[in-house]
Amino acid sequence: MAGLFSSGTLEQIRAASDIVDVIGSYLPLKRAGANFVALCPFHKEKSPSFNVNPHRQIFHCFGCHKGGDVFGFVKEFENIDFPEAVRRLADRAKIPLEFEKNPGEQQSRHLKERLLQIHEQIAQRWQNALANEASGQIAREYLAKRGVSEDAVKLFRLGSAPELWDDTVNWAKSKGHELALVEQAGLILHRQEGEGYYDRFRGRLMFPICDEQGRVVGFSGRVLSGDEKTAKYVNSPETPIFTKSKVFFGLDKSKRAVLEAGHVIVCEGQLDLIACFMAGVQNVVAPQGTAFTPDHARILKRYVEEVVLCFDSDEAGQNATVRSLDSLLASGLAMRVAVVPAPHDPDSFIKANGGPAFKQLIERAEGFFDFYLGRLCATNEVRTDKGRLVVLRGMAEAVHKTGNGVLIDKYAQKTALRLGVSPDAVRAEFKKLSRSKPAAAEPVEPPAEESPRPQPPSNHEYWLLKLLLRHDELVDWAAAHLDPRWVQHALVRQIVMQRLAAHASQTWTSLPAFLEECNAPEMQRLITESTTEPRPLPNPSQQLADVVLRLRNQFIDRQLAGSMQRANQPECSEAERLELLHQQQELRHLKRQPVESPPAG
Ligand code: CTP
Ligand code: MN
Repeated sequence: MAGLFSSGTLEQIRAASDIVDVIGSYLPLKRAGANFVALCPFHKEKSPSFNVNPHRQIFHCFGCHKGGDVFGFVKEFENIDFPEAVRRLADRAKIPLEFEKNPGEQQSRHLKERLLQIHEQIAQRWQNALANEASGQIAREYLAKRGVSEDAVKLFRLGSAPELWDDTVNWAKSKGHELALVEQAGLILHRQEGEGYYDRFRGRLMFPICDEQGRVVGFSGRVLSGDEKTAKYVNSPETPIFTKSKVFFGLDKSKRAVLEAGHVIVCEGQLDLIACFMAGVQNVVAPQGTAFTPDHARILKRYVEEVVLCFDSDEAGQNATVRSLDSLLASGLAMRVAVVPAPHDPDSFIKANGGPAFKQLIERAEGFFDFYLGRLCATNEVRTDKGRLVVLRGMAEAVHKTGNGVLIDKYAQKTALRLGVSPDAVRAEFKKLSRSKPAAAEPVEPPAEESPRPQPPSNHEYWLLKLLLRHDELVDWAAAHLDPRWVQHALVRQIVMQRLAAHASQTWTSLPAFLEECNAPEMQRLITESTTEPRPLPNPSQQLADVVLRLRNQFIDRQLAGSMQRANQPECSEAERLELLHQQQELRHLKRQPVESPPAG
């Protein structure tokens, strides 16, 4: 699992990242006996079942059964992958990560770091201009007029770029940044004629665009003067750290709310998102403008199963909604559409009607195909044959992209109802169209049902886990007296085998390190659950002897039963039957043997 990182580095980072400190920086932790507890951040609950064990450096929630070590927590909480979690904790502990051996990679990493640094610095510079400088006056007035609060300005780090051709150029010089690098950052451009550079963003309200970790990677600047000729928004170009089709405005701030809500609202612009956010609807992202790409869909898929599109009520917004279909379908995301009444966009709707009204709009969002049928009917003359045919074709084509027969039939019926024709006629028409058109590249599978949790282990096997994982001193004895085949529960058996193997090869270091090796989530759950429970185990060596004896005897009983069943089969020969009887005698004898207890620890 670790892959990229040497185990030495991982252990070093782990040692510098006390789990109580790290989790405590995300949630308020309260001491409760040997553990710390909190309301679980991974599921909704009223009383705390989320435990952090400082001694073993692991966490476990007895409510939702999530558990793991410090890397696992950061990974889960931030919804990032393992290497990224390692990087974050290394950063926090100021431990350098030297894993990129390839000089090209190192160079590009270095470049990205410098570009990030420039972005962060200019973001601060523009924030300051907005807050304190005379040049920020127009932007301040504009924000006041649009009802953007100071809190919002702070949270989203809005700024203002002065109305000058060389403000950024001069700023860069004063900071000692190479101008070629600032050009690569997209902040300045080379003059067409003559020497030198000029500013990309002039006289604009600046929205920093952040990656999922909250680092500024680009900007969008809204025009402030009334001039009709200049573009309303100027955006950063594509740079080594910014690909517009792969970044959502706001996701860095909304991701917790998105995970919690289980669905994400997608609106068009920065100001829409800010208005939603400040009205208390925080599970929002904005693809900035109207293009919703397959990459965007894939990003959202990491967080949720359902998207609620909430674009502007104008033509462009409604068309964008329709155009999002393919990307969303290909990703397997379910989608609904919230229609903001004309002439609003979410921002103006919230300003006019308030947050609660907007929440209602979202709750009442209809399924995508209902929206689409409505839109087709509204934009075509359904009283004419020609109009009806357009609607029919449009629906057939859209629904067909799902590759889902049930859905196709359902909307054949709905379309028939809307057009006042017989469902059979529509079905026939849908079939015809689907034959003439190739299906979408990837037919969409219905969202996988949550896999059921495997059977829990028996009490004895659960005890065995506790004893082996909480009492290192007993493992030596277990290695000599316990046959892992006696354990029936497949995952418990796997854990026991790995624990014994780590003992045999003398590679056991710590429970968290062991957790990284057992990287199946169900295994990790069992490990953290069995080791987090705070009650001490009285007389562990006696317990272990008892449990091992019981597991052994149950194993023998199963073998006996199998042997007796075989002997009773009519096709069993006399010789084989004798053999089996002999085997049964031996098994019974084995069962009478005591298990010698481990030395009391
Ligand atoms: N956009 C863009 N470039 C443009 C126009 C728009 O990148 N020339 C993006 C911006 O991210 C913008 C979004 O598209 O926020 C939606 O555009 P629009 O509805 O025109 O802007 P609003 O966000 O509604 O801005 P405002 O309310 O200030 O008019
Ligand atoms: Mn808009």
